[in-house]
Amino acid sequence: MKKSKLKKRLLKISFLGFGLWTFIVPSTNAQTTSLTLDLTKPGAKVSPMLYGLMTEEINHSYDGGLYAELIRNRIFKDNPTKPEGWSLVQEDTNSSKATMKIIAATPDNVPFDERRHAINGALQSCLRLTVEKAAGRVGIANEGYWGIPVKPSTTYKASFYIKGTGSIQPFRRPGSQQPAQPTGPVIEDNTAGLITITIESNDGKTVYASGTIDLAKNTFWKKYELTLTTAANVKPTADARFVISTTRTGLYYFNLVSLFPPTYKNTPNGFRSDIMQMMVDMKPKFLRFPGGNYLEGPLITDAFPWKETLGPIENRAGHKGSWGYRASDGLGYFEFLKWCEDIGGEAVLGVYAGYSLNGDHVDAGPLLQPYVDDALDEIEYAIGDVKTYWGAKRAADGHPKPFKLTYVEIGNEDWFDRSGSYDGRFTQFREAIEKKYPQLICISTIADAQYPDLKVKTGKKPAVLDEHYYRNSWAMWENASQYDKYDRKGPKIFVGEWATREGAPTTNLNAALGDAAWMTGMERNSDLIIMSCYAPLFVNVNTATATAPKAWQWDSDLIGYNALSSYGSPAYYVQKLFGNNLGNEIVPMTAENIPSQPRPLTRRDSTDGITIAPLVPTVFYSATRNTKTGVIYLKIVNTIGKQQPVQISLKGIGKVSADATLLVIKGDKPEDTNTITDPGKIIPLTSKINGVATMFTRILDPYSVSIYQFQTSR
Ligand code: AHR
Repeated sequence: MKKSKLKKRLLKISFLGFGLWTFIVPSTNAQTTSLTLDLTKPGAKVSPMLYGLMTEEINHSYDGGLYAELIRNRIFKDNPTKPEGWSLVQEDTNSSKATMKIIAATPDNVPFDERRHAINGALQSCLRLTVEKAAGRVGIANEGYWGIPVKPSTTYKASFYIKGTGSIQPFRRPGSQQPAQPTGPVIEDNTAGLITITIESNDGKTVYASGTIDLAKNTFWKKYELTLTTAANVKPTADARFVISTTRTGLYYFNLVSLFPPTYKNTPNGFRSDIMQMMVDMKPKFLRFPGGNYLEGPLITDAFPWKETLGPIENRAGHKGSWGYRASDGLGYFEFLKWCEDIGGEAVLGVYAGYSLNGDHVDAGPLLQPYVDDALDEIEYAIGDVKTYWGAKRAADGHPKPFKLTYVEIGNEDWFDRSGSYDGRFTQFREAIEKKYPQLICISTIADAQYPDLKVKTGKKPAVLDEHYYRNSWAMWENASQYDKYDRKGPKIFVGEWATREGAPTTNLNAALGDAAWMTGMERNSDLIIMSCYAPLFVNVNTATATAPKAWQWDSDLIGYNALSSYGSPAYYVQKLFGNNLGNEIVPMTAENIPSQPRPLTRRDSTDGITIAPLVPTVFYSATRNTKTGVIYLKIVNTIGKQQPVQISLKGIGKVSADATLLVIKGDKPEDTNTITDPGKIIPLTSKINGVATMFTRILDPYSVSIYQFQTSR
């Protein structure tokens, strides 16, 4: 039994490996490795949406990431009792007397009169600074997301709500006969006058930018706005804080404190320009959002609350999030849709489908209907006519034109729901969506190949299935050709999350070699793989400080950043090059004598009775052609640390230019990587090569991904 299993496995590997027994020829074999591109007849079409992006709030992707807001905990809701991210500033600690406190309008745990500081339903908590004695300046400081970034000649937009009083306002319960009694200190009401706002060093000794507002004498909330500009000679630093201070006694209440640097295309409530530009450079065709786990939430009640993320930031209370920290929802549904547009792609919208991370689900039928209706509203917001209720809201939010949307994904990773309820849930969503929007295509999150027992069986077969793969490089290399064998008559495949997970917080060169090999497999099969997107996309790379926790929850991410700068992992550059060098037609290829190497045995192998190390290829390839320009893009991956010669044949080509462009990503060691302090260790190198002919030989660099651009004519 064991033997036959092993035989089957070896057979499977050889077939997976381009169907050639040559795969199990050891790498010592001296035969020439050859790749033939067959241009005698047109190949299948490359999916126009093959490469996109996937995003969710994880690793401080938005708050402390793409969303340009610099103030952490701006509405004081991150912790109901502690002003996280905030500290007290007292110039003269001996002579001043000041405290700060969260005033949370949670009905049961605060004195009745303290509940009257809500601005609206979203802004219910605030911060009170009580200054009993002021010797020099006294104030509140925000540490930002691992620092406030200071850059030269930069104008920041600051705003906040503030009110000042001399005492905790007496309050008489409606209907009560008791006279109103103050419940806290009565201090001289000295709050009106100048309030100073600064961006300054954490020790307070250097002020990088400052301004003032004139606080009115009243007890009502008022929003103040100002700009702060740094000097041209300021040295970039994130060792800085944002301070609002006074020199007068009194009680000061703060809410929705905000500070924005210049944003991408100067959009209000916008994105960080550097990170945005990195995505634009990848030329992604879509953005899958809002998750991931972030769509589902820990409990059914924590699902992404898209309706509450719309409109002015004053209306956004934020929500729990799925990765251990609160989401401000400053980057809400509208911003997601704008993001798709800004990168030149379309939305792949994940709608909440009644299953959450703790394993609870809502059964199909009447109980699920409100969720289906909510998804229909969500779609209407994105693409509905301006005369519809939600289409009008979108127009009011500044975008009368419908956004681009073709695919709607029903849930996320519903294979975790072992109750079997997805079948009914998917069908109920699909039928309702297709009825109202026949042009939309619904994606099932359960892939037949991965979870045959859980797949959707009721009614129409899903047109598209989402498969997720998080693997190490060995598993990527071993399975890189898995799609060569997929049924062409079955549903299309969306590889909605995948990554080679080696290196942290961003992945290393070896992972990039795993990714590139995997991508050649998707590209060769891009008649079947209609879309794919790596995950997670972002990571804030800050480690824990005395006051803030480590910024990331998930190792192995694509783009890293801190408050000041950002960088791409080697995998980022692989994605960028693959996305930028893609034809519209697949060029069929055959291979001979592909060298292989033994894969280390795993615990799984021992469970499966495999005792002989399976062999995996060390060279991977794919080619596509732009039928308009005649350019052929040939991608070859060499996963080992020695040069490998490859003979390349262009069969059926009229003419090929002897000169070509070569783009290479390579390194000396598999562990080589980019970091925030060394962002350019592994970056693409461009060179010109010559000697290209209908048959020629190239030597692949060790640990390399090579992309050749051949100019051909028929
Ligand atoms: O990408 C990280 C997580 O992995 C996603 O949130 C989830 O869908 C998957 O399990």
